[in-house]
Amino acid sequence: QTPAAIAPAACPDLTVLDTAVSACTACARHTQRARAVPGMGQADRPYYLIIGEQPGMEDDASGLPFQGDPGRLLTAMLAAARLPHADSVYLAHGVKCRAVGGHEPTSQDVAACLPWLHRQIALLQPRWILALGRVAARAVIGTDKDLDALRGGPHQYMPDQGAPIPVWVTHQPSSLLVRSAWKAEAWRDLAGLAQAVRAAEKT
Ligand code: URA
Repeated sequence: QTPAAIAPAACPDLTVLDTAVSACTACARHTQRARAVPGMGQADRPYYLIIGEQPGMEDDASGLPFQGDPGRLLTAMLAAARLPHADSVYLAHGVKCRAVGGHEPTSQDVAACLPWLHRQIALLQPRWILALGRVAARAVIGTDKDLDALRGGPHQYMPDQGAPIPVWVTHQPSSLLVRSAWKAEAWRDLAGLAQAVRAAEKT
């Protein structure tokens, strides 16, 4: 059985899933990517699963998520918001391959890639999900609302099995690098998440 033939739901662990994603041809992006970017981080019940839109340029070149300036900004934002357990993070994207020119994923791209994300969530069992940007937020929450209507939280991700996972939403770092006026909004969103996490830990 070639890796590409392994369906997302049949992946027994993240190592198999990563290999299968790297061989995926489910959407037209596979002809445009340098490398697929399955994900990276704390693989055993991470506190946070952080989901971006699609790989950045440096992610596409390296096969690793949130490299370069957007990744540095994300790390700084998490630290500034004093997010509890911010070292327990898994990073992934809603759409795991970058299109030439970084074009926003179409709804077909998102639909083709979503089974990988569902399987990652089932294997990771994160305590919280942070969705970055409109495309990731819509994919995870299952809505067509705009980002401003979704920013903050709590929303819910409903897994096939087990309890709902709380979802928080904010801007993606690559947007903040071009629209720095949105940084204050992102800071408020993440401060709200930090507060919600602290409140949940007290109960
Ligand atoms: N990946 C994304 O989806 N967004 C970013 O800002 C950086 C990497």
